[in-house]
Amino acid sequence: MSPGMPSSGHVPVLLEETMRALAVQPGGRYIDCTLGGGGHALAILERSAPGGQLLGIDADPEAIAVARERLAPYADCVRLINDNFASLQAICLKYDFFPVHGILFDLGLSSLQLESARGFSFQHDAPLDMRFDPAQEVTAADIVNTWAEAELARLIRAYGEESCSQRIAREIVRERPIRSTLHLARVVERAVGRRRGRIHPATKTFQALRITVNRELENLELALKQAVELLGFEGRLVVISYHSLEDRIVKQFMQREARDCICPPNTPTCVCGHKAQLRLISRRVITPSAAEIERNPRSRSARLRAAERTMVQDDCYEIPELENLLTEVKAKAWRRPALLKKLQMVFTMA
Ligand SMILES: C[S@@+](CC[C@H](N)C(=O)[O-])C[C@H]1O[C@@H](n2cnc3c(N)ncnc32)[C@H](O)[C@@H]1O
Repeated sequence: MSPGMPSSGHVPVLLEETMRALAVQPGGRYIDCTLGGGGHALAILERSAPGGQLLGIDADPEAIAVARERLAPYADCVRLINDNFASLQAICLKYDFFPVHGILFDLGLSSLQLESARGFSFQHDAPLDMRFDPAQEVTAADIVNTWAEAELARLIRAYGEESCSQRIAREIVRERPIRSTLHLARVVERAVGRRRGRIHPATKTFQALRITVNRELENLELALKQAVELLGFEGRLVVISYHSLEDRIVKQFMQREARDCICPPNTPTCVCGHKAQLRLISRRVITPSAAEIERNPRSRSARLRAAERTMVQDDCYEIPELENLLTEVKAKAWRRPALLKKLQMVFTMA
């Protein structure tokens, strides 16, 4: 969950750490896949001026509207797209926006969404909706009121990591129809008992429903693969996640793409032919400081991971002219999209 304030805008999480990990530079091109209130996007634009460009994506049209207003001073350098980041590559091809210097994912939901009447929170009563994109068909109410008990138990266990998932699913089915957030929170509380520790007993069930409604884990896996392809040489991929399921996907993806061979352990010789495409920027996950958590308690679960695009060395030897192109790109040509496009074409053809 991302921090922020309701109407005045977001407080972006790990802002300085994110800018450092993205290595934002004047004239650079960046993609913010989770625009939200535009907090990170604004910082990217400020630091990539003059000449920086940003493509911002969000599934939520309300987030796009808020960000458009916030980023108005940079309107000429920004393109905002209301779409799902699962279509990242198609979006970038459509708008001819690649290769790029950096791609950011700040996952989960924004404070604007959390504090809206769209059913993300049990702090106030609202219809059980939870869709980032209101054009999506399935809402949390549909799932809660129509799925079989065993399916409900499975999703609450898998996506909420909730040990009382069966009891909760049984209680939900008994209580149907459930239409509002507070109604669902009461049902969960009845199933598992009152507060356990610091978190509300319904927290995990709400997380599980939100992840399911928005297909969060599937979309993340799809988007990470596409993101790597869009990065130019030494371009940065930065992901901030807010729960262990997301973080595990990001960690495993980056570790895998940073290795040449991904054959199972004990395979005598490599048969996978996999080539590393990334270099990890830091082996350890980056988390907010105590001061940031104090200022902004919603940042407490944030975990940042970052990696840098590398070249596939074996391909380089085969391709005439590539040595020169690489030298040119490394030396001075980062800001020349035509050259970078040519370079990417060479790789695509290889
Ligand atoms: C944590 S907020 C981003 C906050 C932003 N970094 C800022 O500083 O204001 C996450 C945003 O990502 C959006 N989002 C989540 N999953 C998405 C997806 N699959 N495609 C597009 N946007 C998505 C949500 O709608 C939400 O607005």
